[in-house]
Amino acid sequence: MLLPDDLTGKLFLPQNYHFHAVLDSTNREAMDLAHGDAPEGTVVVADQQTKGRGRLGRVWVSPPGVNLYFSMILRPPLVARQVAQLTLLAGLALVETLVAAGVVEAVVKWPNDILVHGKKLAGILSEMVAVGERVRFVVIGVGVNVNGHAASFPQEVAERAVTMVDILCQSTDRGGLLAEFLRTFEGWYGRYLQEGFVPVRQGWLGYARLMGQPVRVEMASGVQTGVVLDMDEDGFLLIRQKEGELFRVMAGDVVFI
Ligand code: BTN
Repeated sequence: MLLPDDLTGKLFLPQNYHFHAVLDSTNREAMDLAHGDAPEGTVVVADQQTKGRGRLGRVWVSPPGVNLYFSMILRPPLVARQVAQLTLLAGLALVETLVAAGVVEAVVKWPNDILVHGKKLAGILSEMVAVGERVRFVVIGVGVNVNGHAASFPQEVAERAVTMVDILCQSTDRGGLLAEFLRTFEGWYGRYLQEGFVPVRQGWLGYARLMGQPVRVEMASGVQTGVVLDMDEDGFLLIRQKEGELFRVMAGDVVFI
């Protein structure tokens, strides 16, 4: 069983930890639990997912026995547009966890990928329900490629993915990794609720390699190209277009060009 070795904080309690050998998606399960009365800090973990969800309707390949797939339920006192900040916070906690586990070259890519040398090591998918502007709950799902080799993924994924064992040449205890992430996340989450986004933004930027890079940004509304200037105080990406105009990206996919 994939158990975090110890859950000692106040947010993630052992009684709110749900392990499944197989689920379609831990995000789907956590969303269902959150629609009921599952408390903040509920964590859903699966050893395997049959319909792992990625961003933008993509599939997250989730074979059994090797990787980490989990989702957390949060009930933060936020308005809907602040939820992007929580996803960035999760990315910061994740990159810190991975660096501490030995993946020293891990970086964050806006909005929520963890990359090593341009290849994807981990991804985050946040889903939320709000009533009017007020957030009722957020589910943050995290997938980390841990002990399976990227070469074992379907070809189109294998080319763009990397795993911890590919990098470290030794396997990593998934329960220990999960516990370390939950501890790190809890620390940042407490700080965010008290101090706001400023320290999270600063921490996140320390792991970002985006600034000054020419990019193409693919959004629902179309495609824009330009150079990344900054991630602003709300967590949105600022792009300077060729004509000098500034463009603020709230949601999209960034491709380096
Ligand atoms: C992405 O980079 O596209 C986001 C991937 C998120 C995958 C995780 S695995 C655990 C959780 N359950 C899901 O169905 N998706 C997320």
